[in-house]
Amino acid sequence: MDNPDFVMIKVMNEGKKILLSGVKPTGRPHIGNYFGAMKQFVDLQDNYNCFFMLADYHAITKEQNSAELRQDTLDLAIDYLAIGLDPGKVTLFKQSSVSAHTELTWIFNCLTTMPYLMRAHAFKDAEAKNHEVSVGLFDYPLLMSADILLYDVDVVPVGADQKQHIEIARDTAEKFNRVYGEAFKLPEPLIMPDVAVVPGLDGEKMSKSYKNTIPLFVNETELKQLVMSIKTDSKTPEEPKNPEECNVFALHKLVSGADFPELKKRYVEGGIGYKESKEILFKNLNAFLAPMRERREEIAKDTDKIRKILELGGEKAKQVADKKMNKVRELVGVN
Ligand code: ADP
Ligand code: TRP
Repeated sequence: MDNPDFVMIKVMNEGKKILLSGVKPTGRPHIGNYFGAMKQFVDLQDNYNCFFMLADYHAITKEQNSAELRQDTLDLAIDYLAIGLDPGKVTLFKQSSVSAHTELTWIFNCLTTMPYLMRAHAFKDAEAKNHEVSVGLFDYPLLMSADILLYDVDVVPVGADQKQHIEIARDTAEKFNRVYGEAFKLPEPLIMPDVAVVPGLDGEKMSKSYKNTIPLFVNETELKQLVMSIKTDSKTPEEPKNPEECNVFALHKLVSGADFPELKKRYVEGGIGYKESKEILFKNLNAFLAPMRERREEIAKDTDKIRKILELGGEKAKQVADKKMNKVRELVGVN
């Protein structure tokens, strides 16, 4: 018999478009992840039938310490709940709970050519930096295609840097449908244009890999230190400044709503120094982050409850994915 929780979620989501996204549990999420991806999840949870995935198999392309992976995965689940995801509405699950993801990846491996995957940005970047590329890292876009295609997903909310992966998922779906017969729906990316890329402390894209992040749940003291360390040029307070060239201003855009027009005016006309701009940013960013920080502390107290949420989410996702996988197996000829 169907679990009553599943039935509730099913009834509530009937007729809604399907949305799936995932985040790798590697290190702590930062405000770039939040504004570029995580916030959209919360904003969208009422309007879509949402699947949110902790991409632990993607994470091991990068980090291979079991204790850390386990902790990071649990932490990330807590983070999602703290930012406002409601497990009564959405399916929150671990990628590794649903073996169809890796099974389908193998089938995609056999349909995809090496030269095609060699065009992926992430692979090309790793090559350019002379990093040793594992087969798993090379194959990353196909695991992600499987994540998406198993659930008949309509939209995938991601940051601009992930757009190519959605294109690969679409190409892969088309190829499978052509070779074996119709099984997969073509997903669309959902990118919030205003916050396409959040800059980090050094002005590069904020990223865990660049060690230039402002972590989402950092305490107040550290938050202040980080904000005050944002890289700027050496213009004096009096000099007019182009707000579009300022890393501090880019973050004001995200959290300084009420102060924003005045800030912009003072940038353009001159009369605001970077120190003052950073102090205002700290005040606004802290006001924005503090409630989430407090909620996280509460939620983290009950880890059994979080494990239960993930277990249920895994079962629910598995029901959907297994159904699709049965069809795929039949089309491929391995059922
Ligand atoms: P990181 O680069 O820190 O490892 P991930 O690659 O894990 O971040 O990205 C997780 C999600 O957050 C993705 O959807 C990605 O597009 C989004 N994201 C990451 N960094 C940024 C950023 N600086 N600006 C906007 N979105 C971002
Ligand atoms: N590759 C994504 C990232 O680095 C994470 C991810 C894995 C994902 N599977 C996904 C995102 C499926 C959207 C849909 O951010």
